[in-house]
Amino acid sequence: MRRTVTTSGFSGPLKGETLVPPDKSMSHRSLIIGSLTRGKIKISNFLKSADCLATLDILESLGCEIEFLNESTLFLNAQNAYIEPKKDLYCGNSGTTMRLLTGLLSAQNLECRLTGDISLSKRPMKRIIDPLSLMGARIKSSEGKAPLAIERAKLSGIEYKSPIASAQVKSALLLAGAQIREGATTVLEPHLSRDHSERMLKFFGSNIKTFKKDGLFGSSISYNPLIPKDLTIVGDVSSAAFLLVAAAIIKNSELILKGIGLNPTRTGILHVLKSMNADIEILSRDEISGEEIGDIKIKYSPDLKSTKIEGEIIPRLIDEIPIIALLATQAEGTTIIKDAGDLKNKESDRIASVTRELRKFGAKIEPTEDGFIIEGKNGGNGLFKGGCEVECYHDHRIAMMGYIAGLISEKPCKINDFEWVETSFPNFLGIFENLQK
Ligand code: S3P
Repeated sequence: MRRTVTTSGFSGPLKGETLVPPDKSMSHRSLIIGSLTRGKIKISNFLKSADCLATLDILESLGCEIEFLNESTLFLNAQNAYIEPKKDLYCGNSGTTMRLLTGLLSAQNLECRLTGDISLSKRPMKRIIDPLSLMGARIKSSEGKAPLAIERAKLSGIEYKSPIASAQVKSALLLAGAQIREGATTVLEPHLSRDHSERMLKFFGSNIKTFKKDGLFGSSISYNPLIPKDLTIVGDVSSAAFLLVAAAIIKNSELILKGIGLNPTRTGILHVLKSMNADIEILSRDEISGEEIGDIKIKYSPDLKSTKIEGEIIPRLIDEIPIIALLATQAEGTTIIKDAGDLKNKESDRIASVTRELRKFGAKIEPTEDGFIIEGKNGGNGLFKGGCEVECYHDHRIAMMGYIAGLISEKPCKINDFEWVETSFPNFLGIFENLQK
């Protein structure tokens, strides 16, 4: 159901302690990689969001039995995986679902068809079809876009040098490679993208190896039986990013975010906040199910300064760029973001959508081929009048960016189609309302 929310002119401070939703990337993988164990496992702190439920429904169509014990704990029984599905496998809005499952299912010698919503059907799938085809997969598509029809095939391992640092591409190949009995599959990428697949495969006993070679980041896998084990998912640092930025830019705020994933391939946002002079501190560090976790404290930061974001850090904060763009409007000086051309291929073309929506608030933001140039709060820029209406283009991160821009605006703002937050952060409004009390 379509939903518009209205922010009410200058928000009061955000104060208190909170958990954030479980990690979306890990929740998908817990089901997908968990099913590769062909056993029974308990998954704790699973994200029950629209994207992850798309993955869950598909695994059920493939013969897995899934039972929720409570809102965020489930049992996965993959003893009957994988049967040929009787219907199309609908991935909704979720690129991770489509790309990872295409890798997994290409190596299953079965026939199926993966479909998606209007946004997912526009996103590039050639980036996985081409390398999987080199492994012997047979995937039919129209011009490299969903729907993807997978046909029976026998795959063999390859070494693939990926032109982009993409965890979805890397994971698709590793999930196929994990099932191939002859030969190893190696993926090399120019910068290290998020490594949850590698860590989780290792957690379940895979012989996967990671290494550096000629300046490239490599992961290599071959078949070995995985061991079913219970797994706990950490808090999503990409969801935490919205709270971190909101606290940094809303006067007198002070928040403690508990149980946040601190995997170094995801924590680019923390480096950016530090380099922009935000008052942020990691209070504790621990490890859970092969992933780092900790609590983060952040305070309102009146002396934010601009920064330059480029190169190897981009894959470590790619999903945070919309909210970083908003942060940059509140810093002194000009922030430059480059090497992020893949933003055009997300749930929306985020170079266009971030520019269009932040300009409605009066932000001085110029789009470039691979990023943005953002003028900060010099000479009155950065003071948002508000009174505008935000569109979110089927994109949860644009909806949340728009909401927080509304919180620092003088007049109320409308955020249309706010139901898209269900993709990754179902209790977004509840958490913000609690912290404003
Ligand atoms: C994800 C990888 C990233 C990220 C996406 C989730 C994943 O995409 O933007 O939200 O779970 O592997 P790319 O692999 O396309 O960079």
